[in-house]
Amino acid sequence: MSTQKTILRALAGEVLATPPIWMMRQAGRYLPEYKATRAQAGDFLSLCYNPELAAEVTLQPIRRYGFDASILFADILLLPQALGANLWFVTGEGPRLSTVTTADELKALKPVSAIHDTLSPIYETVKILTRELPDDVTLIGFAGAPWTVATYMIAGQGTPDQGPAHALKDTDKAVFEGLLDLITDGTIEYLSAQIDAGAEVVKLFDSWAGSLMGDNFINYAIKPMARIVAALKQRHPDTPIIAFPRGADERYIGLHDAIGADCIALDDGVTAHWAAANVQTDGCVQGNLKSSHMVTGGDALVTETRAIVDALKGGPHIFNLGHGITPDANPENVQLMIDTVREIR
Ligand code: CP3
Repeated sequence: MSTQKTILRALAGEVLATPPIWMMRQAGRYLPEYKATRAQAGDFLSLCYNPELAAEVTLQPIRRYGFDASILFADILLLPQALGANLWFVTGEGPRLSTVTTADELKALKPVSAIHDTLSPIYETVKILTRELPDDVTLIGFAGAPWTVATYMIAGQGTPDQGPAHALKDTDKAVFEGLLDLITDGTIEYLSAQIDAGAEVVKLFDSWAGSLMGDNFINYAIKPMARIVAALKQRHPDTPIIAFPRGADERYIGLHDAIGADCIALDDGVTAHWAAANVQTDGCVQGNLKSSHMVTGGDALVTETRAIVDALKGGPHIFNLGHGITPDANPENVQLMIDTVREIR
């Protein structure tokens, strides 16, 4: 019997009697203790770049719930900022960035070698966490996948349909592909530095992968992630990688191999039953309870949680939500989900 941490065992392909559990956005505004620390830090970015306070909010959900993994507290938009984009958050609206849509704007960005000047506090947060996390809790580092990060850099904000990024891909392919390449190279260095600092697993968030169709999905979502995974595996062969190509639908089939990832994270657009037959056959899967159950709770939460655990019990599985928990969630429902997975009630 292995003494390894549960998440690492699942990522290595082991089928566990009880799936390990963590939750996307587990440090966040649904928790009163998060809101208190964020108020102390000032704004969201000040919290991200304050290693002591970022480590503190990372630890809060571990203390409250005893999750099997913690995820570094940071944001996917810190890399664009490190590459020279201006970044700020408008309360109640979300992120804003200076845009990159022309060859001159692309050229004005910083070289990849400069990113650590901005991102070194993030590595410091990782170092604090490797000291302070309980011995059985796995530390997950992360970055955005190139396509998703590019959608924000091109539009200068979040968009419902990623229209500006699709438009640039179709009108100035050279600038679009140059930007994707720069983000891909930057992400390799950023994640590699997180691993050097102590991250035990890394995850790529491709929140908008599903909006790419046909060959574009392969060329602009999957291939850049595969390039990052290949580079990281060369430098850090023992570090497992989770990929989250959100919205992939039936295109989830075959992605373990196409990306080279140890685990594919599922959103709630596919059923666990379907994923067991079509995706988990290739390796570990993570997911995929609808986040809205964290708001509504009750019998539906329990029934759906049990159904997911049951459907995926024949292969390696890490329990998680299908997307991040929302600020209107009830913290008690998180406990109910965990207790249901662990069969405590
Ligand atoms: O999962 C975690 O707890 C780790 C930390 C994390 C955050 N963002 C913290 C955060 C991670 C992994 C992310 C990823 C992220 N950030 C994504 C990809 C995943 C996804 O949800 O699809 C994206 C698209 C972003 C960009 C971003 N950052 C957006 C769209 C927002 C929302 C703005 C808002 O006001 O709701 C953020 C802010 C953000 N990132 C918050 C947190 C906890 C809320 C900030 C606050 O405290 O006000």
